[in-house]
Order: sequence, then C-alpha cells, then structure tokens
Amino acid sequence: MSLPQSENQLEILLDAEKIQRRVKELGAQISAEYRGRPLHLIGILKGSWMFLADLIRALDLEVTVDFLGFASYGDGQSSSGQVKITKDLDSSIEGLDVLVVEDILDTGHTFQYLQALLSRRKPKSLKVVTLLDKPSRRANPVSADYVGFTIPDAFVVGYGLDFAQQYRGLPEVHVLHLSPDQLAEVASIDGKVSTQPKVSRPASVPIHPGGVRLARRGVGP
Ligand code: IMP
Repeated sequence: MSLPQSENQLEILLDAEKIQRRVKELGAQISAEYRGRPLHLIGILKGSWMFLADLIRALDLEVTVDFLGFASYGDGQSSSGQVKITKDLDSSIEGLDVLVVEDILDTGHTFQYLQALLSRRKPKSLKVVTLLDKPSRRANPVSADYVGFTIPDAFVVGYGLDFAQQYRGLPEVHVLHLSPDQLAEVASIDGKVSTQPKVSRPASVPIHPGGVRLARRGVGP
C-alpha cells in the first residue's frame, strides 16, 4: 500500500516551533498547579509518546511515568466506542496524583473508557492533558483539563499521531488528505481504524490558543 507523501496530501496544521512553544506553556501551567506534589504521568500508547517526551522535560516537578495501551475498534469509517487494553499499567496508581497524557481527544470514547478504568483504581486525583482536541466530533460529554490546541474537524498525523502506523515521526502536525481509493484500501487491509479518517479541509479560523492556519508543504520525496 502506498501512503501519501506528496505536498497536496499532507498539509501542515501546526509547525514544530508552535508545538514546542505550546508544550512549554503547558509544562509551566501544570508545574504551577502541582507545585510540591509528585506527579504520576500515564502516557496513552501509541500516539502520545512524542508529546509526553517533550512535556516531561517542560515539567519542574518530581515525576514518574507509566504507559497504557489502547486499541479502539471501528468499521473502517468510524470509531465504534469498543476499546480494548493492549498494555496495562505496570504499577498501582492508588493514592497518586495522576495526569493522563493523550495525543488527541476526538469522539471521546477512549477518554470516557479510560476515565472509568482509572477512577476504579483509586488515584488521589485524576486529570487529563491532551495535545489536540477536536470538539466538533465529540460523541460523549467529556473534556480534558489541559488542552494544547483545539483544532477543526480534520484527520491529522505527525508528532506521534499515525495513519496505518505511518507518519508518527513527523515533527509537525499535518492534515492528511486521502482519496476514497486510499481510504478503501486501508480499511480493507486493517479491518479497523482508531477513528474516522476525515478528508475534509480544516477551517482556517484559529480556535485555541493561537492561530492554527494551514501552510501547504511537502514532507517527502
Ligand atoms: P476517540 O476515542 O474517538 O476520542 O479517539 C481517540 C483516539 O483516536 C486517539 O487517541 C487517536 O489514537 C485516534 N485519533 C483520533 N483522531 C485522530 C486523528 O485525527 N489522527 C490520528 N489519530 C486520531
């Protein structure tokens, strides 16, 4: 299967500098709010690892880390809400201040599932930071405690986020434009995708916290 590398299918939404600036701001805000308290980060695999790696370096706190792996199943066009754990936590979170680190909050199915799961394990507190938020696609009334960027309804890749396991290493966040043929091909190979790969073009109006404007640029050969 050939995935898009051309400049008309990958479009920069957030450049690396903007992401780094925002991650530092989030780190400062979180450090101020948890000052003097050890914080236990839980990264949600796989999409959040790059964000977590940058965020932890922006935190001025005593921090421990664990990871939780999830797979969300759908019909190739949308997330069904069925979520399965692929990697559980290594240690108990009872009595800890826990901050879940997410890549993107979309329909909210995963978020709702993990909030219920982690609350049952009796942390002292439970909050969520997400790099990206797509509120327009929310199916559940959930919201994150800290949000990096609120983005329009578009399928995005890069900075840890994938499509068919590709593009995770891009330092920017890109909108991925797929043709109907490519969508059908991926759906038939995977049998599942973690969310709806929308081909829509995002609005150029920034929502939060600064200007999210599109810059068309190629990233591959
Ligand atoms: P939700 O359960 O619909 O909120 O989806 C959450 C998960 O779907 C995220 O943790 C991502 O792994 C994946 N996801 C949602 N939207 C996107 C996207 O635009 N690009 C890549 N992955 C996405």
